[in-house]
Amino acid sequence: MKSKAGAATLAVVGLTGQMMMAARAGSISAWAPCPQFGDLSCAYLDVPLDYHNASAGNGQLLVVKANATAAERKGTIFLNPGGPGVSGLSTLATDGDALMNRTGGAYDFVSWDPRGVGPYTYPGNVYCIPDDEFASFWNGTIEGTGINELGDFTNQTDLRALYSQAPVLDEKWRELGERCLAGPNATTLGYIGTAATVRDLVGLADAIVGENSTIDYWGLSYGTLVGAWFINMFPDRVGRVILDGVLDATRVASTQSYQLWRDQVGAAEDAYTGLATACALAGPDNCKLAPSANGTAQDVVDVLNDAIKASLPRQLGHDHPVQNLLTILRATMYSSLYQPQLWAQYGNELLPQAIATIQNSTADSASSLTKYVVSTVAPTLPLPSSHLPNEIAIVQRRRDAVYTQNSYTEVAVVCADSVDADPSVNTTVVFDDLVDVIRTVSPSFGALFPVPWQRCSYWPVRAPERFQGPFNGTFAHRVLVIGNAYDNATPFKEAAHMAEVLGDQAALVKQNSFGHTSIYQYSTCVADIIKAYLQDGTLPSGTSSNPTVCDIDDDVELFPGVKAVDVIAQVGATDLSARD
Ligand SMILES: *[C@@H]1O[C@H](CO)[C@@H](O)[C@H](O)[C@H]1NC(C)=O
Ligand SMILES: *[C@@H]1O[C@H](CO)[C@@H](O)[C@H](O)[C@H]1NC(C)=O
Ligand SMILES: *[C@@H]1O[C@H](CO)[C@@H](O)[C@H](O)[C@H]1NC(C)=O
Ligand SMILES: *[C@@H]1O[C@H](CO)[C@@H](O)[C@H](O)[C@H]1NC(C)=O
Ligand SMILES: *[C@@H]1O[C@H](CO)[C@@H](O)[C@H](O)[C@H]1NC(C)=O
Ligand SMILES: *[C@@H]1O[C@H](CO)[C@@H](O)[C@H](O)[C@H]1NC(C)=O
Ligand SMILES: *[C@@H]1O[C@H](CO)[C@@H](O)[C@H](O)[C@H]1NC(C)=O
Ligand SMILES: *[C@@H]1O[C@H](CO)[C@@H](O)[C@H](O)[C@H]1NC(C)=O
Ligand SMILES: *[C@@H]1O[C@H](CO)[C@@H](O)[C@H](O)[C@H]1NC(C)=O
Ligand SMILES: *[C@@H]1O[C@H](CO)[C@@H](O)[C@H](O)[C@H]1NC(C)=O
Ligand SMILES: *[C@@H]1O[C@H](CO)[C@@H](O)[C@H](O)[C@H]1NC(C)=O
Repeated sequence: MKSKAGAATLAVVGLTGQMMMAARAGSISAWAPCPQFGDLSCAYLDVPLDYHNASAGNGQLLVVKANATAAERKGTIFLNPGGPGVSGLSTLATDGDALMNRTGGAYDFVSWDPRGVGPYTYPGNVYCIPDDEFASFWNGTIEGTGINELGDFTNQTDLRALYSQAPVLDEKWRELGERCLAGPNATTLGYIGTAATVRDLVGLADAIVGENSTIDYWGLSYGTLVGAWFINMFPDRVGRVILDGVLDATRVASTQSYQLWRDQVGAAEDAYTGLATACALAGPDNCKLAPSANGTAQDVVDVLNDAIKASLPRQLGHDHPVQNLLTILRATMYSSLYQPQLWAQYGNELLPQAIATIQNSTADSASSLTKYVVSTVAPTLPLPSSHLPNEIAIVQRRRDAVYTQNSYTEVAVVCADSVDADPSVNTTVVFDDLVDVIRTVSPSFGALFPVPWQRCSYWPVRAPERFQGPFNGTFAHRVLVIGNAYDNATPFKEAAHMAEVLGDQAALVKQNSFGHTSIYQYSTCVADIIKAYLQDGTLPSGTSSNPTVCDIDDDVELFPGVKAVDVIAQVGATDLSARD
């Protein structure tokens, strides 16, 4: 028997014993067209800022809907696209077709810009430093430039340069916290954590599907953390729930947050091997990064490594948000891994262009590369700040003349939710771990910096409610856990561990593919599993130790003439995923 996890296990921080009035979400406004986002409909939902304290006042969520396309409509699936900080609006606008396809078109998809996201939801983007002070605030720090690092990071000059920044960043990150508390968002910062987002999800379902209805939910990436909290906070409300591209909620609840980067980035190396292998198989005619026909994956990696070496001395330094070339190239390589359907574009346009710009380096080249990346690469990134369609970015600029970019949403959410920071963790400790991650886990991407998890020691605000487990509740319905064999951002082992924790309450499916979450490479096998699950709750037999394995379809290509299944077979043969 499993114990029911519920309200009794919630950490309600800030409760001092006095009674507080519980608060509820309101009703949803009428759906209206929002033509700048295609066929989506938009509405607003009023929500309490603090569900345990009605006197804290209200916020308002922008809600979007993609109508079911099939003749017979069977229900509504709520979607959280992750990040944290990714816009539900832009995700439905860009990935709605792929999601609709997997469900046979019989469900409306409803998503929303969660608290902390975008210009339409309130509280929205988190601003701490006005734009015109941003460059000078970070001037001369590696926050602005990124880390100079090659190979396994043994160069003593580069290491000294890194560690000399530790006390600087201790100070800057502390100051950033103070600025947040002195800025326009000071009073709302505590209200944008994951527990509040879970309650928003429930409020949305109450308003759209009906009070006390079961809730059908698809969480992508960080949305799986929202999902894991949801099913355990509201076990009786669990309808059909899909956790896809899983972040291990038990790790988040038990680990100093800076250590989570180690879990995440290890997966990127295998995906990188896949990209290089596919490019080599495509050859120079179909992948410009391949130096010769019949070359190897290593030849492709060498081309990129040479570019990284060439970019090293071209340090810019003091002109944030212009980073050094090395950082831009590394970030572009990393971002390429998320969506394999874009690999041909990265291999033929984005990365060769970035390399050409570096080789051509002049005083202006870093800023021209930045402009190039911002205009061409950024719109393809599944990353929060760059994920908004241009239209929104423009509206956003018009709305907030002073605070427009540089939102701290991701830090605000992960640090509001994370375990209490160990007071002995300062930036030196974070760097010790980072150097080890670069040397032992991911020499290619470990040095991407900073990731939000690394800054929680200095974040000034905690969420008033945090769910910290246990995660093995007894749910009204069983859930479906999906992990990709070579997901670059959420390693399969995290999906397997969540499935283990959920036990017989879940089935585990391993999609044999690249990409972040199941939706960028098509598997008839996975789509059929999802359809059957939605239809009548049927789940395959896969367990954490013996997952149901689904290949992607034979006709899915990574480059012209290069089948994804063939590349996966090659990468799989080297058994990289067993490395940790
Ligand atoms: C649920 O998880 C908790 C905490 O990890 C553990 O102590 C408990 O034994 C688990 N219960 C079941 C039924 O597995
Ligand atoms: C979607 O459904 C809503 C009603 O919920 C309707 O008003 C809207 O026109 C529909 N949108 C499209 C593109 O059919
Ligand atoms: C509830 O919210 C009000 C308004 O922000 C605040 O003054 C009060 O301290 C809060 N109560 C608790 C117990 O947090
Ligand atoms: C979903 O996409 C696949 C691959 O593109 C296609 O074969 C299939 O017909 C689509 N299914 C639906 C229901 O649109
Ligand atoms: C921060 O302030 C901006 C500008 O006033 C506002 O648009 C945004 O919703 C606020 N975000 C939060 C978390 O309060
Ligand atoms: C950054 O600092 C350098 C050197 O102190 C100075 O020349 C430059 O103007 C500063 N840049 C900004 C944007 O503050
Ligand atoms: C170490 O890095 C510095 C600066 O990045 C460079 O000048 C030096 O040549 C490097 N040393 C070695 C041994 O590679
Ligand atoms: C929903 O559940 C609550 C609490 O159990 C109950 O008070 C309320 O009447 C229910 N509403 C409906 C419409 O069933
Ligand atoms: C590549 O390999 C094929 C088959 O082994 C061979 O026929 C072809 O000549 C090779 N091409 C080059 C450029 O080496
Ligand atoms: C390289 O530099 C030349 C001359 O400044 C310029 O015309 C060309 O566009 C540059 N190429 C790239 C890829 O930046
Ligand atoms: C950082 O923390 C470590 C270990 O807790 C300590 O030895 C070191 O002195 C601290 N560094 C600074 C700059 O405070």
